[in-house]
Amino acid sequence: MKTQLLTPKDTSRAARILRSGGLVGIPTETVYGLGANGLDPLAVRSIFQAKGRPQDNPLILHIPDPSWLELYCRDIPEAAWRLARRFWPGPLTMVLRRDPAVPDEVTAGLNTVGMRCPAHELCRAVIEAAGVPIAAPSGNTSGKPSPTSVADMLEDMNGKIDAILDGGSCQVGVESTIIDMTAATPRLLRPGGVPLEELRAVLGEVELDPAILRPMEEGEKPLAPGMKYRHYAPKAPVIVVKGSPARSAAYILEHLSPTYWDGVICFDEFADWYPSHPVERLGGALDHWENARRLFHALRAMDEAGVKRIWAQSPDTAGMGLAVVNRLDKAAGFHIVEV
Ligand code: TXA
Ligand code: MG
Repeated sequence: MKTQLLTPKDTSRAARILRSGGLVGIPTETVYGLGANGLDPLAVRSIFQAKGRPQDNPLILHIPDPSWLELYCRDIPEAAWRLARRFWPGPLTMVLRRDPAVPDEVTAGLNTVGMRCPAHELCRAVIEAAGVPIAAPSGNTSGKPSPTSVADMLEDMNGKIDAILDGGSCQVGVESTIIDMTAATPRLLRPGGVPLEELRAVLGEVELDPAILRPMEEGEKPLAPGMKYRHYAPKAPVIVVKGSPARSAAYILEHLSPTYWDGVICFDEFADWYPSHPVERLGGALDHWENARRLFHALRAMDEAGVKRIWAQSPDTAGMGLAVVNRLDKAAGFHIVEV
């Protein structure tokens, strides 16, 4: 299959492909998604094939306007509407009780569905033109870092999908925050583009799913099925070094192998500490938004440099830091050094 590269003026073409059951790479403010008509079971099934995604991992349904929520969900709590008013359109996914209109292929048989109204204008324009909700996981091959540009998405999906719509590089850079609104107390399933502190400011109490900060034990099940898989991982093994930025930078310097092909992902302040190694910058140590924006590209760039091992500095968990820490820990399979 030849994958067409579409530009913003091709919105209606992208919508036509989606309506006729095709797969289109679509830009969102978080990461690029791999979209299909969310009401077409066959089209949804082909997403799993293109990504090599496990069948038990449900997809998020994307809508152009919060009012569509009522078409696909039941028993929507008042708190969910409060979140929608505050954060939509934007990088927030709410897990809600599903309506039978949503195919089993989308929800992997669960009685809930993840709903998101993205902020990216082009993305919403395509969904509106298609006139159907769009099921879309991140546009990477399963297990790899999510794509934050057309080039990243082409690398994984060229020849496997009908088209990719170029909407520039993603402003948030990590995926949406996922919150389960079906429990008595709302529960954070995945940290992302809306920080936990902001959710708490609207909702009061929010619980954290244990899968966010530690690996799952044998037989333990995270509530977001996708959180159990090795994820966001480049080819080379990653070691995350936690502690104050100066200490972690010094630890990496001490432990870099002079002969082994080690790469470093570090904050800008330390970028010239490792002159004989491939280095990717995460932005300033205190700029967690910039850290999020750059993280997935940095992981992919390490693979392009062909390094055999990756050392990475990690921010603290305040604000957007929690999402960055979660992605780094998973990319490293929780291979973490505390200094
Ligand atoms: O920012 C994003 O959310 C991107 C863009 C494309 O919108 N999408 C994305 O989708 O990250 P994906 O499929 O890569 O990750 C969705 C996560 C998975 O971990 C999945 O298990 C979880 O959401 N999920 C989806 N539906 C769920 C449900 N009904 N209950 C619990 N978890 C769910
Ligand atoms: Mg994903």
